[in-house]
Amino acid sequence: MKDLKSLIRTIPDYPKPGILFRDVTTLLGDAQGFKAAIAQLAEPFRTIPVDAVAGIEARGFILGGAVADRLGCGFVPIRKKGKLPWKTIGEEYTLEYGVDVIEMHEDAVAAGSRILIVDDLIATGGTAEATAKLIRRSGADIVAAAFVIDLPDLGGLKRLDAMGVKSHTLMA
Ligand code: PRP
Ligand code: ADE
Repeated sequence: MKDLKSLIRTIPDYPKPGILFRDVTTLLGDAQGFKAAIAQLAEPFRTIPVDAVAGIEARGFILGGAVADRLGCGFVPIRKKGKLPWKTIGEEYTLEYGVDVIEMHEDAVAAGSRILIVDDLIATGGTAEATAKLIRRSGADIVAAAFVIDLPDLGGLKRLDAMGVKSHTLMA
């Protein structure tokens, strides 16, 4: 099987000039690569209790759903503003190329439950930090946050570490 990193395509100047966009669609489209990425994301959490995976829209849905299936736990969608049908709680955040709001159903995670955050990539950490805040506002505990790609120059993992959230990444 090909090295996972070689399955990720880098697109210069997307969606804005100066951004090197890491495109995981090429990894997702490779059967062996996708399977290996899910196995590696889930590996540290196979033997510890996880009640649900919180997957971040949109790429975190694809990976997070598969990780939840592998761990035998539930899935909680963390969505962009206005997409969820029931009552929500929200957090504003900034990312490498803009400002946005993410939301979660107010009853999506139970107080005291153990939640694993999953996304394809961490850059500034704004999205993951906002997700962690939403989960904690509900009284749930964060087991860790798992990403395929870390962009270390943007400091996202340090930001999570500063709020006491452990991270698991497959490549920088
Ligand atoms: C990307 C990526 C992460 C976030 C990381 O999502 O999938 O969710 O950016 O950036 P950060 O660490 O600086 O917050 P994006 O907002 O582009 O949404 P998409 O998955 O819907 O394309
Ligand atoms: N989200 C934030 N920065 C990104 C990047 N460079 N590539 C893909 N997704 C991103």
